[in-house]
Amino acid sequence: MPTEQPRIMAVSSGKGGVGKTNFVANLALFYASINKKVLVMDADVGLSNIDVMLGITPKFNLRHVLAGQKRLKDIVVSGPLGINIIPAGSGVRELTSLAEEQRLQLVTELEDFDLDFDIFLIDTGAGISENVLFFCSAAQEVIVIVTPEPTSIADAYALIKVLKNDFRTRCFRLIVNTARSEKEAFDTYSKLSLVADKFLNQSIDYLGYLPFDQNVKDSIIAQKSHIVMHPNSPFAKKLGQIAKRLIEHPLGETTGTLQFFLRRALRVG
Ligand SMILES: Nc1ncnc2c1ncn2[C@@H]1O[C@H](COP(=O)(O)OP(=O)(O)OP(=O)(O)O)[C@@H](O)[C@H]1O
Ligand SMILES: [Mg+2]
Repeated sequence: MPTEQPRIMAVSSGKGGVGKTNFVANLALFYASINKKVLVMDADVGLSNIDVMLGITPKFNLRHVLAGQKRLKDIVVSGPLGINIIPAGSGVRELTSLAEEQRLQLVTELEDFDLDFDIFLIDTGAGISENVLFFCSAAQEVIVIVTPEPTSIADAYALIKVLKNDFRTRCFRLIVNTARSEKEAFDTYSKLSLVADKFLNQSIDYLGYLPFDQNVKDSIIAQKSHIVMHPNSPFAKKLGQIAKRLIEHPLGETTGTLQFFLRRALRVG
């Protein structure tokens, strides 16, 4: 049984396809491997859902909850190493723009989840849709993923700008994915950090980078958990460092229940 309130982290990006779901899946597995109780919410409607990535085929998903056919606790599925997943289902249109009542419904349904988990990870979609902004603003910290491409950096800046200006989000951390070197990653971080500092007066915490790793791609194709299969790969090692930093150096408010943060996000949004 967890002794503290859960850490609530949203993983987001400006541009799509930069590696959010792959990161969330492997981060969840890493925490499970060190005996943390992890709940992952798939808040993305993309095709590359976390359940698909891990080779799970859930019978029910958020669509059933929103339709009133299932309770949230009934759709939670157990994944590798006992991680728990709230599946979104593919192409769930309703999820792209949840109505006010639907958000309230989700928040209410999440009521009793606090007690059972150490870590709550939210895999959001890319971009600045209302839902991405809602879920990000409900998290204690937002982990933004970029790749070294200029478009990815520009879109990440746009996301951070809206979250800061319109949703009062203050805690941003950055991961550079598929970087070819430490230097390329840090240069990417520096570009974003400089403009965020200058134009938004917002600091961004650098979490580190994840290398491009062909094994990661192969694991996804095989629907296998990468860090479980390859715990010593370059990707797994870097992921482990990032995971530990997240635990050892939390940003922002570290107390407050899931309910508290979600309800506050409802008011801000
Ligand atoms: N570090 C990495 N090394 C090699 N390939 C990677 C890495 N990270 C991600 N990928 C590849 O990039 C693809 C996209 O990753 P993923 O689905 O996690 O992105 P996403 O940001 O969640 O996308 P979306 O915005 O559509 O939700 C994956 O299928 C995987 O093949
Ligand atoms: Mg995704």
